[in-house]
Amino acid sequence: MSEETSERTLSHYQRNAERFWEGTRDHDVSQNLDALLGALRDARGGEGPFRVLDFGCGPGRDLAELARRGHVPTGLDGCAAFAAMARSHAGCEVLQQDFVDLALPPASFDGVFANASLFHVPSAHLPHVLGELFRALVAPGILFCSNPRGDDVEGFQGERYGCYFQEPRWTRYFQDAGFVPVRHYYRPDGLPREQQPWLAMVFRRDA
Ligand SMILES: C[S@@+](CC[C@H](N)C(=O)[O-])C[C@H]1O[C@@H](n2cnc3c(N)ncnc32)[C@H](O)[C@@H]1O
Repeated sequence: MSEETSERTLSHYQRNAERFWEGTRDHDVSQNLDALLGALRDARGGEGPFRVLDFGCGPGRDLAELARRGHVPTGLDGCAAFAAMARSHAGCEVLQQDFVDLALPPASFDGVFANASLFHVPSAHLPHVLGELFRALVAPGILFCSNPRGDDVEGFQGERYGCYFQEPRWTRYFQDAGFVPVRHYYRPDGLPREQQPWLAMVFRRDA
């Protein structure tokens, strides 16, 4: 199950890597980066620089922005084409790993930025994956994620596997893994809820 979901999803991204980069390189996710970095400042009482794992970094847009803001980003993606693009766009370390078979150094990051990526993990694997991300953080540490929301369903949409959950279900998985909810919001900002397909969430590792 895990291998099939990862393989199919990753080969979709591999085949469409250039098109994905062209379609997303100018996306403005500063609201999400600000949510992570603001929560880190609150939790740690300083400006950083912070060590941030960009989980599912894609071609590296946000790695480059984190570096530009003076932080120390590390990328992680299972798609070989994206890992190579991210290294060349951001000039930082990028780990090529499958979400469901992670090998992360423990207590190595102040923050995790998971923009439009965690929903690709099948729910059967979420407890393990969130546990790995919890262990990769130092306390107090912050995890940000943004995921497309839906009526608590999961499965393939075309060639990509996804979980489309509401906020309470995501929060339960995170709390079970030891995280404390900080805040959540919906995107794009300023629109009626039915025109906000994205659920952004911030969690903290306290100890
Ligand atoms: C929608 S893209 C988001 C990319 C980037 N974070 C952004 O905001 O543009 C999802 C990312 O998750 C990665 N991904 C999906 N399934 C994966 C898996 N099983 N293991 C590792 N990476 C995976 C894809 O390669 C892709 O880069």
